[in-house]
Amino acid sequence: MRIEDAMDRVNDQVVLAERPTTILEASTTRLESTSAPQPQEGEALVEVGYLSIDPTIRTWMDDAPGYLPPIGIGEVVRSGGIGTVVESNNSRYNVGDLVFGTVGWQRYCIAGKGSQAMTVIPAGVDPLLAINVLGVTGLTAYFGMTDVGHIREGDVVVVSGAAGATGSSAGQIAKILGAKTVIGIAGSNEKCALLTSELGYDVAINYKTDNVAAALKEAAPKGVDLFFDNVGGEILDIVLAQLAMRGRVVLCGAISQYTTPGRPKGPANYLNLIIKRGSMEGFIILDYADRYGEAQGQLLTWLLEGKLHHAEHVLDGLDRAPEALNLLFTGGNTGKVIVRL
Ligand SMILES: NC(=O)c1ccc[n+]([C@@H]2O[C@H](COP(=O)([O-])OP(=O)(O)OC[C@H]3O[C@@H](n4cnc5c(N)ncnc54)[C@H](OP(=O)(O)O)[C@@H]3O)[C@@H](O)[C@H]2O)c1
Repeated sequence: MRIEDAMDRVNDQVVLAERPTTILEASTTRLESTSAPQPQEGEALVEVGYLSIDPTIRTWMDDAPGYLPPIGIGEVVRSGGIGTVVESNNSRYNVGDLVFGTVGWQRYCIAGKGSQAMTVIPAGVDPLLAINVLGVTGLTAYFGMTDVGHIREGDVVVVSGAAGATGSSAGQIAKILGAKTVIGIAGSNEKCALLTSELGYDVAINYKTDNVAAALKEAAPKGVDLFFDNVGGEILDIVLAQLAMRGRVVLCGAISQYTTPGRPKGPANYLNLIIKRGSMEGFIILDYADRYGEAQGQLLTWLLEGKLHHAEHVLDGLDRAPEALNLLFTGGNTGKVIVRL
């Protein structure tokens, strides 16, 4: 690599220009260009190929405490993603390796040590799969269902955001692990049809047109053993009211609350947890980092056995990252949203 080549590398970046109040507007982000960073000793330069578009990115845009600090105004939007090592001063990363980590909405980033470390993806693994089912999305569905939700054979399970990236894997995992009935809640008839025709769900409820409480009562007359919640708000409240004895609620996310100005709406029906001796537990997937390999082995086996279906919703171009993030909040996606650079 000639020094001149490295100097020629232009790093297009999407930075946070102002904090959004609901979904992203044109003024929320700004495109900037600078030179690609120079990797120092122990670092590698990564050319970003794919961005994982996750609802949590929107929460990092708020000036509010979270599990990671807010993105600062003028900073590159934080994001997981995959890239190719194009220069390396670290024996852990070889030129040509595909790596996964916090890449940001930009064309080039640095892989290094500590918080800048990235995971080398084994050769031959499809990057779309590495972001979706074998990445944070599939891992969240897996650990949420198993370690947090303690899925058991014969369970009646409900998943909200069921046709989304995490929800579609979560429902299938519940079925694979012996759930008796898996009920999905989603926002369109097309998504509901997909749930029951391809994703192994027994029942699908359209929360925009159906009476969710009545439909749930019919599908789960003895109550819900396990609720894997991706959306929070009104839907969380409805399912809380219909828990079975010792029912468990997994708080994976609360997307209905991320773009609502003000404080999130809390559940009114939480007293049912007392009556039903139930439990409600949140989790953040990063806490399972030392067990990712174990889950990826299991998820890969199910993929190879044809038991786990997956879908990716791909948009091309770094400049489309804000639009891609908004799809998660308008329900415009089916499956994992990914931006390909
Ligand atoms: N705890 C963790 O570590 C962790 C890790 C990853 C993801 N998550 C959470 O998992 C959830 C799903 O994330 P994902 O990446 O898989 O996204 P996704 O489900 O692929 O996309 C989000 C979906 O949410 C639904 N939605 C949006 N606004 C809604 C509303 N007001 N009410 C009901 N549904 C709404 C939309 O589907 P409809 O068309 O059905 O409305 C949309 O397609 C999010 O809450 C996210 O924060 C948590």
